[in-house]
Amino acid sequence: MPTTTFRIAPSILSADFARLGDEVRGVIDAGADLIHFDVMDNHYVPNLTVGPLVCEAIKPHCKVPIDVHLMVKPVDRIVGDFAKAGASIISFHPEASEHVHRTLGLIRDAGCKAGLVFNPGTPLDHLDHVMDLVDLVLIMSVNPGFGGQSFIASSLAKVTEARKRIDATGREIWLEVDGGIKADNIGAVAKAGADTFVAGSAIFGAGDRAAAIRKMRAELGAR
Ligand code: DX5
Ligand code: ZN
Repeated sequence: MPTTTFRIAPSILSADFARLGDEVRGVIDAGADLIHFDVMDNHYVPNLTVGPLVCEAIKPHCKVPIDVHLMVKPVDRIVGDFAKAGASIISFHPEASEHVHRTLGLIRDAGCKAGLVFNPGTPLDHLDHVMDLVDLVLIMSVNPGFGGQSFIASSLAKVTEARKRIDATGREIWLEVDGGIKADNIGAVAKAGADTFVAGSAIFGAGDRAAAIRKMRAELGAR
């Protein structure tokens, strides 16, 4: 049986923003595979975070890819700015784009991998007709806007359904899960079919971040 590559993506949302460069370097040294960069606009979601300037500022501190999660509406105008700022992956919510097919194309044309994000209440049907333009599917296991929320258990069935859709393409599309991921549920999320795991509070909130990541990897290995 082929072995799955698992990726752990700490979300900067739970980092100390006053020392973001150090924070990012620290979790990369601690074993992070990606840096998850949450962009919130106080419009599509009820919170406001950071934009391309901050992405550009952390880029020299990131020897791993930057995984930009856009929680902004509209999406298209800001895509090029994040590509220039050093994003490797740009994901967005279908509800936030009037033209999902166009937005996926814009992201790829800018040289990035394109991801589509599904809120707990958003059906996977949005993948219909655009699967060939998608490089990553991101399943939200909390409602977007805040770190530190509890994992919504019904997300597991959705991950399984997304895995089926991805496998049917025969392409290597990443399946990421975001929200409430911790060492004690990461194994179940992987079992449902995910390969990429966002964790904010469980990593940045831990006293020993390397130990937190090691524990997650151990759970992934042990399943
Ligand atoms: C929520 C964000 C998440 C969040 C995850 O809107 O997209 O990336 O930071 O944080 P935790 O792991 O604390 O749920
Ligand atoms: Zn996120």
